[in-house]
Amino acid sequence: MILSRARLRGKAAPVPAPAVPQGTELPRHVAIIMDGNGRWAARRKLPRLAGHKAGADAVRRVARAARDMGLECLTLYAFSSENWKRPEQEIADLTALLKHFIANDLDEFHANNVRLRVIGDYHAFEPSAVEMVERALAKTAANDGSTMVIALNYGSQNELARATQALARRVASGELRPEEITTDAIAAELDTADLPPLDLLIRTSGEQRLSNFLLWQVAYAELYFTEKLWPDFDAEALAEACKVFAGRQRRYGGL
Ligand code: IPE
Ligand code: IPE
Ligand code: MG
Repeated sequence: MILSRARLRGKAAPVPAPAVPQGTELPRHVAIIMDGNGRWAARRKLPRLAGHKAGADAVRRVARAARDMGLECLTLYAFSSENWKRPEQEIADLTALLKHFIANDLDEFHANNVRLRVIGDYHAFEPSAVEMVERALAKTAANDGSTMVIALNYGSQNELARATQALARRVASGELRPEEITTDAIAAELDTADLPPLDLLIRTSGEQRLSNFLLWQVAYAELYFTEKLWPDFDAEALAEACKVFAGRQRRYGGL
């Protein structure tokens, strides 16, 4: 796989990002735990909302960079199932930023043949946000240039519990035998079922934990932690992470 993969697909020829040398092995699927908005704001003596706004700017920047670089799939952890523990006002601010993103930026991604996907149960958000997400999903459903996945009210343990329940129901109904619950059968029930395998997981802000993100999918992903706070993350930082990825030797247990 080379940098010009997206161009080979014959859709909306991307402009290669300058910082990744031609011929570099690109990850197919990159996921990012976008962390550090609050600390970015605190360092500037600004309210946390200012950090989230700067974080939303980073989402735009990085999503564009991923698209231009020719990444097949970018998954962004926007709101975890544990983030409901935050103050009501912060949750309202984050929901408003999501709506703002869909209202203002979706058209650009749609015009560039990007398909939007959501993982997690987004129905827990306020009805106007749910409606906007649904319209965005429907509008971009047929796009096949690249995929942008937003994790909303996502928790990996809950995702695995839901998948297990679905399999149990199929066994109970006689449609599936217990021994047919293979790793492939489990993967097929996850929210990520139709996405390419996860190659690279990035977490910003210096924290080195997964915070209930893609626990199954991360099995053989490469992990990349950076001290950079999410609002400071940009095309250059994404290219650097991809460069480090290209230098990794993936053995999958073999030699
Ligand atoms: C990430 O930034 C955004 C979300 C989790 C929604 P944080 O809000 O977690 O920022 P810190 O960790 O407090 O700096
Ligand atoms: C993880 O960040 C969730 C998102 C980036 C959406 P958190 O800031 O919520 O994670 P913890 O609480 O530090 O583990
Ligand atoms: Mg955080």
